[in-house]
Amino acid sequence: MKNRITEILGTQYPLILGPMRLITLGEMAASVSNSGGFGQIGASGASAEMLRDEIEKAQKMTDKPFGLNMPIYRPNAFEALEIAIEMGIKTVTTSAGNPAKIIGRIKEAGLKVLHKVSTVKMALKAQEAGVDGVIATGFEAGGHVGRENITTLCLIPQLVDILDIPVVAAGGIGDGRGLIAAFALGAQGVELGTRFVCTRECASPDWYKEAIIRATDSSTLVLGKEAMPIRVLKNKKALEVADPEKAREDERIKSGGDDAYVDGDAEQAIMPAGQVASVIKQIKGIAEVFPDMVKEAKTISSELNRFFKEDD
Ligand SMILES: Cc1cc2nc3c(=O)[nH]c(=O)nc-3n(C[C@H](O)[C@H](O)[C@H](O)COP(=O)(O)O)c2cc1C
Repeated sequence: MKNRITEILGTQYPLILGPMRLITLGEMAASVSNSGGFGQIGASGASAEMLRDEIEKAQKMTDKPFGLNMPIYRPNAFEALEIAIEMGIKTVTTSAGNPAKIIGRIKEAGLKVLHKVSTVKMALKAQEAGVDGVIATGFEAGGHVGRENITTLCLIPQLVDILDIPVVAAGGIGDGRGLIAAFALGAQGVELGTRFVCTRECASPDWYKEAIIRATDSSTLVLGKEAMPIRVLKNKKALEVADPEKAREDERIKSGGDDAYVDGDAEQAIMPAGQVASVIKQIKGIAEVFPDMVKEAKTISSELNRFFKEDD
């Protein structure tokens, strides 16, 4: 599997572990990279010391490439980038902000960068700033989503048609079916978040994983539509703050959920998760997710190939 995304990432598969605040740390990033994908450590919510420790942990566990994600609006974005450079990370991802603010230093240090976008306008701006590729996040994704409500199915083909740089699809992908669909739309890679929350070794509490397993088609909602929209699982707390006025005031929603998803409880924690939660029916090992997806996608690809040939 070789394409422009595997070239940027230096990986076997063009498959990316979506960065998740306080969840995607060193061990998870290394396990994903060891399984052939691109692991990432999230800088959101992490101190400089914690980031250094987590990068070091990952470096001890793998000699494969992994990355660091920096939400640009966060006060620690520039410091996190310096740590990434200093510790030898080769590819970073940026989100939530204008990449033009940070790309000068990224390129000066010789790193590659993928930037997260949710609209055509944002993607064109990112390309103009000089990013190597975009991660296009559809409205069905877990965590922060765009304000324009564009779904992955409609966003990817528009970007593929208009951009010169490669596009990674994020949002709504949890298995080989999603992978094939994203590639059929023209994506050259995929990024998964929610699927990885629901893995055995993930640091999230069992009640978070169980809530994903129990999720149905109507189990998520978007909070903070007026400020920074974020898709989360419905629970008592999420329904309480679903009022846009309250959400605007709620610092925890602005900051990408709530650290209570690491140590709180099932009714009071804000638990970011995508609509794909309703497709996830099983807790898996971290190292199984990407190889299983690839295997499933290969089977689907040959079935589709047969089907379309038969139709000639
Ligand atoms: C719990 C959680 C935390 C997240 N935190 C971040 C983050 O800190 N930075 C970021 O760029 N994306 C974050 N995301 C988005 C993911 O990286 C990924 O793009 C998204 O989950 C993909 O959609 P999916 O959940 O449908 O797979 C988060 C998502 C979840 C579910």
